Amino acid sequence: MAHVVNREIENYLRQLVPERDLLLKSLEEKAEQEYVSIVLPEVAQFLHLMALQSRAQNILEIGTAIGYSTIWLARVAKQNGGRVTTIEINQRRYEKALNSIKQSGLEDVISIIKAHAADILPTLSGTYDFIFVDAAKGQYSSFFEKLYPRLQTGGLIIFDNVLADGLVICNDEDIERRQRTMVRRLREFLKMITGYPGLVASVIPMGDGLVVGYKTG
Ligand SMILES: C[S@@+](CC[C@H](N)C(=O)[O-])C[C@H]1O[C@@H](n2cnc3c(N)ncnc32)[C@H](O)[C@@H]1O
Repeated sequence: MAHVVNREIENYLRQLVPERDLLLKSLEEKAEQEYVSIVLPEVAQFLHLMALQSRAQNILEIGTAIGYSTIWLARVAKQNGGRVTTIEINQRRYEKALNSIKQSGLEDVISIIKAHAADILPTLSGTYDFIFVDAAKGQYSSFFEKLYPRLQTGGLIIFDNVLADGLVICNDEDIERRQRTMVRRLREFLKMITGYPGLVASVIPMGDGLVVGYKTG
């Protein structure tokens, strides 16, 4: 299996990310100890930058885990007078995220929903100016179809882990059988989103790969 970014470069980039506060550092440590996958610090910093640059107010996140990326995004939302709605399927993680959010003092800015995103997306009626998807890679195309109408013109949509540890460039026989469908779906998703009418999208080989899309309408 390939790795997306050369390890030495990745370590170098990581030490250029400004020091995080105690809460974010403790969540990074907890995620490592408990084997919870969260965005890498350089990816968190990039999300923070994108949210700031786009003056994000109404943010939607799919895949809360323990609330690490949610807190990064909610700090920008608060500054801009906005909110974050985040969806998490797993009960234990949902409870941990609630605890992290409480510690962050951002309860008034974050709404967390414990559900399968596929059940919630069709019920959403508002629009969002910033959407971050970090869950269920095999379902990215289906999530995108439901999310595009909910993204404001001029808004950003970002998906994480789109290069799946470099598996997207591997031959099928070099990919574990149980991962083949997910990898095939990711390739189809990347092909679709990068050519989608009404969206300008770019794939960024940072962390495990991100795709960033801007809705032109
Ligand atoms: C990579 S983690 C999210 C990490 C988080 N964004 C962060 O960086 O702090 C993915 C999370 O998505 C959740 N998840 C997976 N499938 C989901 C679904 N269909 N709907 C909602 N959450 C889902 C998992 O339980 C897991 O906690």
